[in-house]
Amino acid sequence: MAEIGKDISKAKQILEAGKLVGIPTETVYGLAGNALNADAVSKIFETKNRPSFDPLILHTSGIERVLDFVKEIPEDLKILADSFWPGPLTLLLPRKSIVPDLVTSGLDTVAVRIPSHPLTKELLTELDFPLAAPSANPFGYISPTKASHVNDQLGQKISYILDGGSCEVGLESTIVGMENGKVTVYRLGGIDLRLIEEKVGEIHQVAHSSSNPKAPGLLQSHYSPTKPFVLGDLPKLIEEYTDKGIDFAVMSFRDSFEELDCKKIVILSPQADLHEAAKNLFASMRILDSMDVSVILAELMPEEGLGKAINDRLRRAAAK
Ligand code: TXA
Ligand code: MG
Repeated sequence: MAEIGKDISKAKQILEAGKLVGIPTETVYGLAGNALNADAVSKIFETKNRPSFDPLILHTSGIERVLDFVKEIPEDLKILADSFWPGPLTLLLPRKSIVPDLVTSGLDTVAVRIPSHPLTKELLTELDFPLAAPSANPFGYISPTKASHVNDQLGQKISYILDGGSCEVGLESTIVGMENGKVTVYRLGGIDLRLIEEKVGEIHQVAHSSSNPKAPGLLQSHYSPTKPFVLGDLPKLIEEYTDKGIDFAVMSFRDSFEELDCKKIVILSPQADLHEAAKNLFASMRILDSMDVSVILAELMPEEGLGKAINDRLRRAAAK
């Protein structure tokens, strides 16, 4: 298994040698390698079992460094960068040729993000190259929000995981770019869209499609547990599965459903706080997936604010 620790200089050494390190961010843990070293980048794809048509996000420490990798930052996106970086925002920007084709899967835009997690911020400041880092999970599975999640799944394949505790946001970054002159969101994520719209006006949303080659994070089935994951009205589902005699576990937003016969339950936020629910979402899905049951029953959140991004992940987890 990998070593887990807080040693930034150790992480730096491994990355400088062209190898990979698990890194904490405020959204989810990343599987990081030198973004300017094509060998390191290809190790990322191999380690995650990720198809090479799915481009990576480049992480760096400051907006002045972003301009080393992109030709320009369109005005509206600059407003968003100034408002939300460092933080859970990824911008699609026209790339310079210094960024290897492998990072962008040959696209002429590169996804860029400045994360706010203090350990990774310090690591990025000390490195003289940016980090390519997808979420540190095998392709298609639930994203990791603790160092131990990374170790459970990729610990055989990497030597070090930088331990930054539990991720504060718990959902991947919101991905935004320009399409036909309009600010466009490609993936709902850790920033409430309403906050983005406050800055740049109404934004365009690309249709979710399982065949959208531009952002495979939008693949219909993604973020999936290995157990069947069924979404619906929980009291009804609980009764139905109890009647059928099928073992189930429940992921509820706020209720404990005490009046129903439901022993295995994880509650995302007893206070009905969507930030708390987001923070707990992926860890809860992992706990439920490891329980000795045949099916996981879950419900959607209110369709507002972060609830939209959470619901997006829930629907993908439930998609076949
Ligand atoms: O919060 C996050 O964004 C985390 C942390 C580690 O930073 N990273 C993450 O990376 O979620 P990943 O690789 O799991 O998801 C990145 C998504 C993918 O769906 C990919 O298709 C999309 O970003 N993407 C990357 N570059 C793109 C580009 N040039 N155009 C369109 N989509 C792009
Ligand atoms: Mg991912």
